[in-house]
Amino acid sequence: MEKIVIDGGNALHGRIEVSGMKNAAVPIIFACVAVGDICVIENLPCISDVETSLEIISSIGARIRYLSENSVEIDSRDVSPASAPCELVNKMRGSYYLIGAMLGRFGSVMAGLPGGCDLGARPIDQHIKAFEALGAEVTVDGGFIDVQTKSGITGAGIYFDCVTVGGTINTIIAAVRAKGTTIIENAAREPHVVDVANFLNYCGANITGAGTDTIKIKGTEDLHGCSYAIIPDMIEAGTFMIAAAATHGRLYINNVIPKHIDAISAKLVEMGASVEEFDDAVLVSHKGALSPVTIKTMPYPGFPTDMNPQAAVLLCLANGTSRMHETIYENRFRYVEELKRMGANIRVDKNIATIMGVDQLSAATVRAVDLRAGVAMVIAGLAARGRTEIDDIYHIERGYDNITNKFKAVGANIHKVVIPDPFVTI
Ligand code: EPZ
Repeated sequence: MEKIVIDGGNALHGRIEVSGMKNAAVPIIFACVAVGDICVIENLPCISDVETSLEIISSIGARIRYLSENSVEIDSRDVSPASAPCELVNKMRGSYYLIGAMLGRFGSVMAGLPGGCDLGARPIDQHIKAFEALGAEVTVDGGFIDVQTKSGITGAGIYFDCVTVGGTINTIIAAVRAKGTTIIENAAREPHVVDVANFLNYCGANITGAGTDTIKIKGTEDLHGCSYAIIPDMIEAGTFMIAAAATHGRLYINNVIPKHIDAISAKLVEMGASVEEFDDAVLVSHKGALSPVTIKTMPYPGFPTDMNPQAAVLLCLANGTSRMHETIYENRFRYVEELKRMGANIRVDKNIATIMGVDQLSAATVRAVDLRAGVAMVIAGLAARGRTEIDDIYHIERGYDNITNKFKAVGANIHKVVIPDPFVTI
């Protein structure tokens, strides 16, 4: 078992690199199965969700060859319509992209239901609605989903009841091989939706409208391999931006598409931080007091729900009372109890957290209760007085590449500690 130990209070200064985006890398790895050829994927983050995704597709016959730490060759020509091991599939939410890929390529798939952070119910009814519109018969039973067609899927019109990133991407991945045209309405507009569409278009697909709320996919059997680099991770960039402001530091955050983080930059400026944009970087610095604000999480281009916990740490240090309104997940505020152990003054009423600013957070032993809550604890530890210890850091390592060394390189007193398992006899 491992934990992160932080002796807080150092202002972060220097240049920090953003890795490839987890939520683009995972679907693109699974989309390689839909392509059925040899693809080279670059700028992959070294995180456990990428490792698990590669393990899942290799368990059904894909051949993986690492070309470097951040690039792999995926040969999915011999993938068979077998089902992947459940213990892998329910380690992460993104494993449901395997269903769209296998449905499009083979016309049928049986898979375990996805796992992922415990942020609430996280149903997949919209994914099922799309698969059924494409002509599949879907059965969910005993932790498995069985998606069957007689002779493959046929393009259709799909109007999502709610904006769903996963549902939008899964439908695109399935529909690229459908007979005919699919039109998705009320589609998610996130940059990673666009990244998946761009990757598939590089492979010969015909997808238009990605990034808008209406996406058209003309199905084709003529898909071929390609080389593709994943976009930078906008949530990792936002996490570093918040860390700079929370420690009264100054960070040059490299490998950024500024447009993707507009909502985050706007909120930081509203709070009084300085954000200077360059072509592929942002410079974030902050001195003095932070102003309280109200944040409402929304689908892109709104303020991302995946930045809720990190931003809440900054609001804990603002000069007054702020509000965090969470509109995506019913269980996003699990981090609040951990922050309160560090002296935060937060009251949650349904999906609104009222956050009263305090002079300083104090170090404590806390847990990472999910991926983004875990990295919020890191930011709180960096800003707090004293030694913070964070347990269950496997959550953080699902989505952040080498984060302790990245923070150490810009002045943080942070390191990972291995705790021998008391029940393992040597
Ligand atoms: C993706 O999850 C991300 N995960 C999440 O990031 C992110 O928070 C979320 O998009 C929103 O941006 C991955 O990409 C692997 P949704 P996803 O479908 O696709 C409801 C992280 O920290 N919904 O856009 O599962 C759902 O319950 C993770 O990196 C349905 O009701 O999110 C939620 O309330 C956490 N039915 C809302 O829609 C469905 O069929 C948005 O979910 C699907 C979703």
